Amino acid sequence: MHSIEDYIEQNKEIINNFLYAYFQKNYNNNCGCLSKKNSLAKISESNKKISTDFSINDAMYYTVSLGGKRIRPIFLLITAECLGFKNKAQLLPFACSIELIHSYSLIHDDLPAMDNDNLRRGKPTNHIVFGEAAAILAGDALLSEAFIIISDNEYIKYFKCDTILKIIQELSFLSGAGGLVGGQFLDIINSGVPIDNSVLTEIHDKKTAALIKAACAMGGILGGADDGLVAALKNYGTYLGLAFQALDDLLDVIGSSQITGKTVGIDKNNNKSNIASILGIEETKKLIEEYTEKGISYLDKTNINFNMLKDFSYYLTKRTN
Ligand code: IPE
Ligand code: IPE
Ligand code: MG
Ligand code: MG
Ligand code: MG
Repeated sequence: MHSIEDYIEQNKEIINNFLYAYFQKNYNNNCGCLSKKNSLAKISESNKKISTDFSINDAMYYTVSLGGKRIRPIFLLITAECLGFKNKAQLLPFACSIELIHSYSLIHDDLPAMDNDNLRRGKPTNHIVFGEAAAILAGDALLSEAFIIISDNEYIKYFKCDTILKIIQELSFLSGAGGLVGGQFLDIINSGVPIDNSVLTEIHDKKTAALIKAACAMGGILGGADDGLVAALKNYGTYLGLAFQALDDLLDVIGSSQITGKTVGIDKNNNKSNIASILGIEETKKLIEEYTEKGISYLDKTNINFNMLKDFSYYLTKRTN
């Protein structure tokens, strides 16, 4: 039995290798070679595009390759594996499709029209490197790429068509206006205005929990879960997502940019409602624990051994980045 830390380390590498190979294949098909170190990217001082010496694949892969914790693909892998699904190679394309959507959401989230941030995953944000227009397009293309992957015969041939259709339905709904995009919209229109906690919870549920919910649902569906179990996994994902954003907000207040790789204090600068600023540090820590326990209670109502998913849940409450 692996410790959760070992599992995460090993699976991060597997995910990174899949993403590298995937973009390498796209480069071979579209435009020559891919530099593993992103040396093709030209850093712009002025936030404007200064070079045309890159392809759309460079701009897409730049943010994807910067790393990140890969927690969404890991949610999918652990969920399916707890259900007894053993073939990781068959799960990986689906796991990584969520990471592409997540990466797109980060690129757009950092744009001047949204959070106007210049630091992501410890490096200059996509629009700082490639200019705003290319960053918008790279995000758009990453969203499409996710759906190219999960409808590609090379990856879907191991599963039934109705399994794949359910996956597409979950991922498209939860990344769209009813999920991530809807949450980002509410986040923007509520900037600078006092909001009550229920609105803030709805924002967190949509902008952040939705994709985590999608990862758990997709892991469940691929692992052969019935509708009842998928619903339980989505409830679990909702509360883990709320805990995740509450901790993101807390780290924006008390974290370190060196560790988070993001601009600490940006929520205040942008007049964003931040749960840790509203509740205070200790209450927010308590809330993160409560959300995590509530999420786990949905796993406990099933007759499946979800110990690995539970270990991951507690691991996430202790993260510092
Ligand atoms: C950041 O997500 C954006 C949120 C939804 C809070 P992560 O904290 O998962 O970012 P990376 O992928 O590790 O960079
Ligand atoms: C954004 O929340 C969540 C996304 C959908 C990208 P934040 O704006 O707080 O995320 P960070 O702190 O920039 O990663
Ligand atoms: Mg934001
Ligand atoms: Mg942001
Ligand atoms: Mg944040």
